[in-house]
Amino acid sequence: MTETKTDKFTLINELARRRGFFWQAYEIYGGAGGFVTYGPLGAKLKQNIERKLRELFVNKLGILEIESSVITPGKVFEASGHVGHFKEPMVECAKCGKRFRADHLLEEYAKISAAEAEKMSLTEIKQAIEKNAITCPDCGGTFNEPQQFLTMFETTIGPYSGATGYGRPEAAQGIFVEFNRLYTIARERLPFGVLQIGHALRNEISPRQGLIRLREFTIADLEFFFDPETPNCHLLKDVENETLPILTAEKRLKGSDEILNITVKEALKQKLISSEWQAFFMAMAKKLLIEIGVPAEKQRFIEKLPWEKAHYSTQSFDQEVLVDRWGWIEVSGHAYRTDYDLKCHMEASGVDLRVYKEYETPIEEEQFVVKPIMAKLGPVFKAEAAKVAQLLASVPAEEVAAALEKHGYYQIQNYKILREHVNVSRQKTVVRGKRFIPHVVEPSFGCDRLFYVALEYAYHTKDDRVILSFPRDLAPTQIGVYPLVSKDDIVEKAEEVHRLLVNEGFSAEFDDTGSIGRRYARADEAGIPLGVTIDYDTLNDDTVTVRDRDSWQQVRVSIKDLPELLHKYFSGKINFEELGTLVQAK
Ligand code: ATP
Ligand code: GLY
Repeated sequence: MTETKTDKFTLINELARRRGFFWQAYEIYGGAGGFVTYGPLGAKLKQNIERKLRELFVNKLGILEIESSVITPGKVFEASGHVGHFKEPMVECAKCGKRFRADHLLEEYAKISAAEAEKMSLTEIKQAIEKNAITCPDCGGTFNEPQQFLTMFETTIGPYSGATGYGRPEAAQGIFVEFNRLYTIARERLPFGVLQIGHALRNEISPRQGLIRLREFTIADLEFFFDPETPNCHLLKDVENETLPILTAEKRLKGSDEILNITVKEALKQKLISSEWQAFFMAMAKKLLIEIGVPAEKQRFIEKLPWEKAHYSTQSFDQEVLVDRWGWIEVSGHAYRTDYDLKCHMEASGVDLRVYKEYETPIEEEQFVVKPIMAKLGPVFKAEAAKVAQLLASVPAEEVAAALEKHGYYQIQNYKILREHVNVSRQKTVVRGKRFIPHVVEPSFGCDRLFYVALEYAYHTKDDRVILSFPRDLAPTQIGVYPLVSKDDIVEKAEEVHRLLVNEGFSAEFDDTGSIGRRYARADEAGIPLGVTIDYDTLNDDTVTVRDRDSWQQVRVSIKDLPELLHKYFSGKINFEELGTLVQAK
């Protein structure tokens, strides 16, 4: 296949609009940046990508799937740390009022690396803008003071101005806040995982990269919970010899961008990846990308530097894919979130989110016991005294005892517990088990970015015609059904074959407009893997030609065998040549 040298981003966006994969939303009002509408072909392609995620994780690994709300009470994102951290540095043009991501401007106009720019304080950003004489790319105006912009969409829940809500910027919190119920559903056993695929909202400052940076997008967050004392991944055998192309933080800090092609097993042995489960999901992510059409050599995993990591992560990798216009773009993030989120929600809600583990043999232990003295708590905390006592019961007694010993007080939420508020004693007890907060690793995929890379890697030209060579299980439409000519009996037979295929569960499209050549060209451009053509011979021998989108080869197949053969073909059991006898292409 020959490649065009034109920028694929432009070509794909043009094709996407023309063929109805996606386009900028609200076009009749001039369009709204960062929002897209997926058309009929795009909606199906996106569903197929999401189906692949479900097949890989839900069907094959038994991961639970949930669906929670997009609008989330403010308390949740205050507790998770997003209200404090989910911010980007922004500058505003004093002349035209346009706003820009300050770090992106520095990358583009001062050639400061993304990693360096991300580390800079607002003062450093201001100095760098002045030093490099960066002005507004749109009107040449100078910038006002840089400021931090909260990229969560804020709203009020109901008609109460005090009831702040946020559009979730990630689906993960919807999983953490339901942990207790989900753990019960998982039969109170670790490890287990929960997936949520749904819309996420981020009020990106200046989204200019099409599907890659949207203000409303689909995220697939998978939270995998495990016991940090038994962190081994029992599925590691399946992936341990897979190679991961990794750029480590250590190398990046030394200014190198050398990729280490290392097996999962070796990466763990060398402690390049700190969690076995994290390594497992990185290998799965690589497999997923290969399945959606991105070859291994066009993928890499970049370890985030300490200041680039999200606030909840101890080790993060971005899975990146090389694309034509933008270079390497992140398609999924892999974070070791430890017990961070459950701990935050436990402290903020006062609800115990720990799990209980029974020891194999009970042990005798001297333990701290902290008993609230209600007669003391009552006068101090009044109506909240019972809540304070409940909160105290939800935290480890040794933690309270240690704080009282060290500081003379223990702070829980807004309540300051003093020594005289509680009785602290040590008691010998037979301990049968313990409570602990599970650890979490998280692979998080952006479905719109997966969609974009699937489209870019499927995009080819042959004889100046565009072909979208989607993997056969990703194609929005599986089969095109064509009467060769518009003669009544041939059209009728073609309709019959179309009905047969639709009833067999295939996504098949009937097309009888224009010459057969034009119909094939249209189908190639929509990425339809197979065409079934009904011709004069069909009326005599009940056979059809089946045409391959990529090679343009044709085979002759009898209609009665068609459903079974096509099922085998689309489930990857046979190749095109095995469908029937090769014939001269018409
Ligand atoms: P970036 O650095 O590109 O802004 P991020 O590090 O903020 O991305 P994460 O917070 O790790 O991204 O989000 C998880 C995944 O969600 C990303 O790997 C990406 O695929 C997707 N994603 C994030 N922001 C957007 C967006 N604005 N539009 C589309 N997809 C996004
Ligand atoms: N849940 C993944 C993220 O927001 O980065």
